[in-house]
Amino acid sequence: MSDPWQECMDFCLDVTKRAGKMIREALQKDITIMQKSSPVDLVTETDQKVEQLIISSLKEKYPTHRFIGEESVAAGAPSVLTDDPTWIIDPIDGTTNFVHRFPFVSVSIGFTVKKEIEFGIVYSCIEDKMYTARKGKGAFCNGNPIKVSGQKDISESLILTEMGFKEDAEHFNIMLANIKTILTIPVHGIRSPGSAAVNMCLVASGSADAYYHMGIHCWDMAGGAAVVTEAGGVIMDVSGGPFDLMSRRLIVASSRTIAERIAKEITEFPVGRDDTEGP
Ligand code: IPD
Repeated sequence: MSDPWQECMDFCLDVTKRAGKMIREALQKDITIMQKSSPVDLVTETDQKVEQLIISSLKEKYPTHRFIGEESVAAGAPSVLTDDPTWIIDPIDGTTNFVHRFPFVSVSIGFTVKKEIEFGIVYSCIEDKMYTARKGKGAFCNGNPIKVSGQKDISESLILTEMGFKEDAEHFNIMLANIKTILTIPVHGIRSPGSAAVNMCLVASGSADAYYHMGIHCWDMAGGAAVVTEAGGVIMDVSGGPFDLMSRRLIVASSRTIAERIAKEITEFPVGRDDTEGP
């Protein structure tokens, strides 16, 4: 039986390459920075133009599908996941990196049907690494199969998380305390590459052993979630329960042992949901 979503994935791959080219070209020019919800939540004209390119291309080809895009939601579009075929798009995951020309900048696209992720594409476009994963068919980087490290011992692990200023002092302190807790297990180290989608692909390809984060969005997670799952990784909620794409939080790891240990060690703080509060 033919795969109804493979054609969507093939088309999306072509659109993603064009988006990546647009981002690389924009890096050669002056970058105008605008603020969104806070002085550390940035957006550029390129985020908006790249999202327009992606959504208009996909909409023309698939007019009945739904779309959740970071910049469209920021402009007031709804962020609700239904059973319909839905494209979840982050035109530039790592906008702060883009602004500083720090080389982890990705286009991240996940495609869901009946709320399940069917495929994911993450293009780390400065590195020129195209990560792809179709449900049940494995994960790839530039066409070559990738898999997680398989590490089970957290004390021999490299852990990824992201840290950013939070106006709420209590949450800020919990975020910093979590980093201290993980470091003092001890682990080999903690890194913050600055793009959630790239972080998941680094775990998927065995360059890091786990990634945890509270406060990201479905568009940061959808593409990478497919890649890390198909690479043999484990994905769960920070509570240790099942992963929920709209929950704004996740742990991914090379093994269940490490994911569960992180869930046990870190303290949660409330981050809201994508499907109830918007951006
Ligand atoms: C951001 C990146 C970053 C994470 C932020 C996200 P954006 O995405 O994924 O790693 O720390 O929470 O918002 O805004 O550049 O698409």
